[in-house]
Amino acid sequence: MNTPASFHPFARVLHWTMAVLILAMLFIGVGMVGTVSPKHPWLLAIHRPLGVAILLLVIVRLAVRLRTQPPALPDDMPYWQRYVAHASHWVLYGLMLAMPLIGWAMQSAGGYPIMLGDTLRLPAILPENATLFAWLREAHRYLAYLFFLTILGHVGAALYHALIRRDGVFQSMTFGMPERIDAKAIPAAESEAQVSVELQATKHDTPPPS
Ligand code: HEM
Repeated sequence: MNTPASFHPFARVLHWTMAVLILAMLFIGVGMVGTVSPKHPWLLAIHRPLGVAILLLVIVRLAVRLRTQPPALPDDMPYWQRYVAHASHWVLYGLMLAMPLIGWAMQSAGGYPIMLGDTLRLPAILPENATLFAWLREAHRYLAYLFFLTILGHVGAALYHALIRRDGVFQSMTFGMPERIDAKAIPAAESEAQVSVELQATKHDTPPPS
């Protein structure tokens, strides 16, 4: 099968939609636990349904990811970078699934209803249990920190591809045209080097190497 140059258009739409939603969720979460003002219930009322929306979207996203062929990473990328890239992508998928599920489970264990709008109430996925609630609350917090760190690394890697390597990896997830540097580019680079040697030689009045 031919490897495509970019991700499936639907995968790209899901990627950018979820990027916005997840960043919003992380900041809403931190803002929510950091305030006892009347904004707290208001932020919580956004946080819960948005978390459930992320859970539904990540299920669709995983299905799209497993059913479509992703573009290959450039051949000249060092092995450790490919390994870290693949591992961090699966950590991100794991966290996109785990965070909403743990949030839902925590609220169930605490006996709090999860309302979607005024009438739709989600069922509890765990029995009420104070110890479990405390444990899941800590898990939700520490996984949120891990999520922040992984996203930071992911954005750093994306910028490294876009601005330093310029190898088309960044464009494969955006809506521009990917320009891959591949093995075919090497003869061109060699001839550039040859031109530069010849120019140097002309400057110093010595014959270029044959
Ligand atoms: C991708 C999904 C989610 C993300 C990224 C996320 C992120 C966060 C973050 C960053 C915090 C603050 C943690 C802290 O500093 O202590 C938080 C707290 C909280 N989240 Fe989520 N969350 C998600 C899904 C959910 C869901 C689905 C629910 C419930 C249905 C939920 C319920 C809560 C609650 C109740 C708190 C406050 C916990 C406390 O009082 O310490 N979260 N969330």
